[in-house]
Amino acid sequence: MEKVWKIGVIDFGGQYAHLIASRVRRLGTYTEILSNEESLNKYKEYSGLILSGGPSSVYEENSPKLDKEIFELGIPILGICYGEQLLVHLLGGVVKQSASKEYGKAFLDKKSDSLLLEKFQKSEQVWMSHGDEVSSIPEGFEIIASTRNCKFAAIQNLEKKIYGIQFHPEVTHTEKGSELLKNFISICGTEKTWSLDEYLKRKYSEIKSEVGNKKVFMLISGGVDSTVSYVLLAKSLGKENVKGLLVDTGFMRKNEVLDLKLKLIQMKIDLNIEDASLKFYEALKGKTEPEEKRKIIGDLFLEIQSETSKKFNLNEEEYILGQGTIYPDTIESGSTKHSEKIKTHHNRVDKILEMLKEGKIIEPIKDLYKDEVRELGTMLGLDKSMVKRHPFPGPGLAVRMLSSNPQTGFKMFQELNQILSDFSNIEYKILPIKSVGVQGDKRTYSFSAVINDTIRSYDELEKISTQVTNFIPEINRVLILPFEEKISHLNFNYSRIELNKKNSDILREADAIITKFLVYRELLEKIWQFPVVLIPVGEKDKFSIVLRPVESLEAMTANFYPLDPDILKEMIIEIKKIPEIQYVFFDLTNKPPGTIEWE
Ligand code: XMP
Repeated sequence: MEKVWKIGVIDFGGQYAHLIASRVRRLGTYTEILSNEESLNKYKEYSGLILSGGPSSVYEENSPKLDKEIFELGIPILGICYGEQLLVHLLGGVVKQSASKEYGKAFLDKKSDSLLLEKFQKSEQVWMSHGDEVSSIPEGFEIIASTRNCKFAAIQNLEKKIYGIQFHPEVTHTEKGSELLKNFISICGTEKTWSLDEYLKRKYSEIKSEVGNKKVFMLISGGVDSTVSYVLLAKSLGKENVKGLLVDTGFMRKNEVLDLKLKLIQMKIDLNIEDASLKFYEALKGKTEPEEKRKIIGDLFLEIQSETSKKFNLNEEEYILGQGTIYPDTIESGSTKHSEKIKTHHNRVDKILEMLKEGKIIEPIKDLYKDEVRELGTMLGLDKSMVKRHPFPGPGLAVRMLSSNPQTGFKMFQELNQILSDFSNIEYKILPIKSVGVQGDKRTYSFSAVINDTIRSYDELEKISTQVTNFIPEINRVLILPFEEKISHLNFNYSRIELNKKNSDILREADAIITKFLVYRELLEKIWQFPVVLIPVGEKDKFSIVLRPVESLEAMTANFYPLDPDILKEMIIEIKKIPEIQYVFFDLTNKPPGTIEWE
């Protein structure tokens, strides 16, 4: 049998394991995420193993451990942060709680030559984030680098090819992080054993043999994953053997459906589109409550999908179902126990798992990370605007149209006056529109405070925003009206926003303006997501827009993105050209306490 070269990343929680695994793939070796409770036989399939970081302490009774025999398999092992502490602990060294948590940049001082630190200069910047620390190392190990506060920043057992590092090579603040991972790949002997090019070549024939003489039916959302999967299936099986259906809810982005349809026609691939927008607008008449909106949209979506699919006369003998599941979707729900995410992905609910077992579903890109899916899309001929697009919620623009009734009975907050009196020249108003937020594990539904924009730095604005939301639970977001030095004279009136075509078109227009800026100002990759929200604030027949750009790794937490003021100004000027828009706000809230979407 042909040898499969791959490195396993054993997941000890947090977000580290996926980050490490995707970095190693970028460097040309295939990776898989593994639980710490796999059998030794399973671990033996790998040419190298990386033990990830994680939030636990090795000396706690219930912290995730490993079978010690793993160190006798003769496979190179690299322990990172918690991974280093664990291997030290298991092999007879000591780990203890350190006096203070070390977090941030540090300088790594190389003590002796090691293959792991090849191409490292005498001093290199690294990123630390740990509470515990190693205080003595097991027999057979030596120190290869230290930082000022961390004597055992890098250690090795040369003979056994076991390495431990306290810093994080997977984050960009560790300047030679990629170099270190590349060195570990060389130690494992797996250089240049994987590329997306070869993956694609192999995938065509794998898909053919998996599907056999059946055909594939697929529901397309317009997002990157389902589109790339669909094109890949069509190219592998021939367009006559795949059928795709897209349900247009009326809450898609401007020209989204048309652009996709035309692109696929150009690639000689069919797509069936069911325009159900009127049904959605009708069902949402007068609805304002976020969860109710979501439920109506979700139920109607399934109903229309199943009705329309019936028209195709799909039968199980002839068709299997295609899904655009990607790698993190397959493992974030329980198979890696220590990962803190507890949500089951909708592509992994029980019914789907059963169908997968029975071979009734094909998921052509289920081994790939998002950045690989984007690259694959480009290789298959999709445009940059399609593959680089930001994540977009299933219910679409409907969660970005705040149709809430003006809430009465809100009070002016004593506490707010007090907090803001620490900062000079601050005026504020409360927007009595509720939006969704999250604090602790709880969902909140509260008001926003708007403050005036005297010339302050984003750092200072962030400080104000955090203090306000920390001390006043009735407020979960803080906004500015950019470039408005005074707001006391402004009149924030409240109208009503129905979820209809007219209002969706207004938001579509504003959203399209922002998308254009993101593309031409090359911000698509710097900003993780940029919701544009329509709120019922303004004089008669007028509404307002909130800009909500965020930076994030995987949406569990997020920070508002400090947008360059010149670009912000240009955006506001363009959006205000939409006749129905009066004000443009900027959301200064991190997640928590605000969610990314307003709902
Ligand atoms: P929040 O607003 O909870 O959003 O901070 C986190 C991420 O999830 C996206 N989102 C959705 N994605 N279907 C999706 O596929 C949905 O119903 C949905 N709702 C929110 C949101 O855009 C953000 O990226």
